[in-house]
Amino acid sequence: MKEFYWGVVQSAFQFEMGDPLRRGIDARSDWWQWVRDPFNIKNDLVSGDLPEDGINNYELYEIDHRLAKDLGLNAYQLTIEWSRIFPCPTFGVEAEVERDSYGLIKRVKIKKETLEELDGLANHFEVAHYRAVLKNLKKLGFSTFVTLNHQTLPVWLHNPIEVRKNLEEAGARGWVDERSIVEFVKFSAYVAWKFSDLVDFWATFDEPMVTVELGYLAPYVGWPPGILNPNAAKKVIIHQMVAHARAYDAIKEFSKAPVGIILNIIPAYPLNPRDERDVKAAENYDYFHNRLFLNALNDGRVDLELNWEEVKIDHLARNDWIGNNYYTREVVRWIEPKFKELPMVSFVGAEGYGYSGNPMGVSPDNNPTSDFGWEVYPKGIYDSTMIAAEYGKPVYITENGIADSKDILRPRYIVSHVRELFRAIENGADVRGYFHWALTDNYEWAMGFKIRFGLYEVDLITKERIPRRKSVETYRRIVTEGLGDENDSS
Ligand code: BGC
Repeated sequence: MKEFYWGVVQSAFQFEMGDPLRRGIDARSDWWQWVRDPFNIKNDLVSGDLPEDGINNYELYEIDHRLAKDLGLNAYQLTIEWSRIFPCPTFGVEAEVERDSYGLIKRVKIKKETLEELDGLANHFEVAHYRAVLKNLKKLGFSTFVTLNHQTLPVWLHNPIEVRKNLEEAGARGWVDERSIVEFVKFSAYVAWKFSDLVDFWATFDEPMVTVELGYLAPYVGWPPGILNPNAAKKVIIHQMVAHARAYDAIKEFSKAPVGIILNIIPAYPLNPRDERDVKAAENYDYFHNRLFLNALNDGRVDLELNWEEVKIDHLARNDWIGNNYYTREVVRWIEPKFKELPMVSFVGAEGYGYSGNPMGVSPDNNPTSDFGWEVYPKGIYDSTMIAAEYGKPVYITENGIADSKDILRPRYIVSHVRELFRAIENGADVRGYFHWALTDNYEWAMGFKIRFGLYEVDLITKERIPRRKSVETYRRIVTEGLGDENDSS
């Protein structure tokens, strides 16, 4: 039998900072700017909590690795933060670019001199830090999964405050700007060159559609750059696809490890299955949120104009594995398309279900909801895994977890989701790993610290890791002994 990877997952921005002596600060990312912007705080777009008061995995990583080891895990997933490695622009480093007949970048040439120049710009203290982190994981016997982009961008590439004021005039426009592709390729090549001896699996992006949906189509949710601009959203989709494919090529030059992408594949169900418009809404959701990236990067079927017309672009079909983050489902109903530029966005989450529930309550289907209001729906991990499996690549559940500070729902959540995952495997899905979000509590983006995902609670003053015992024991037991019988959940 192939090795099954049991792990935990963290991102850089959400876990690293928090040293009481203010060591390990990274003030060079877009999110750093975003969460302390007075307008955002005043208008409740963000919580006002700050990441530098957080978990402090940057200094305490050895403790966290040991906790993961004691759970019996054999894999650990983390992000190498771009803005730490390159705090200043890399635009000046030359890299030749070739385009296809659509004008898309089909090749970025990275030469030895390119890497040497990048080495001159890199922050070697941070390179050494991540090497120490990865070495420690290896020493403890973990397989390492490294993500290159988990939402955050260097501020020299994306200044969300400027973008919100005026996209056209902003200098640093993030994924709207095609130059970000080339810079991402440089970063990816450099990281692969520096770290290939310590990394077993690479992921380019984590949840690129979240960047699009929350950043450019829902300005009220507190996600940078917080603008409503469907044309920018379209560009961000295509640019991230190209960035993935070209980073894939670049990583392959220096590393034999498989390169994948992490999506959050959300199964969508019609509110009224007998209403054909709701059925259509669910199909549109599935196509927009799940399939655009899956089709393009696995099969080269690319919907360039976002009008359901796919063209075949082989140089985008680059992917060795699919990471799938699953938390809950969507139940959708039809609405007239919200944006004329994006006719497929003709759905809205039905109140009470999926991501649209109320905190600590129950959904209309009588499923409990988390502290975040997300409905507990284990069958969804089965359905979402089966969507991923259609593409014929190995699948890893790269995130699954629940915001539950009192640890009331989590033990059963873990058991029921792993059970549904195993059912997917029995029914043919090639699933090779499961990573829990998260080992410890984390900084939950715009929501700050009040949302608690950790198997271990973190005291934000002392930074102590305090087990949420039932969940810790449940996960440990699953990993070391298997699922056990049906009612054995805590
Ligand atoms: C994201 C994490 C986030 C988690 C819980 C995932 O979709 O990748 O960054 O903390 O959801 O909201």
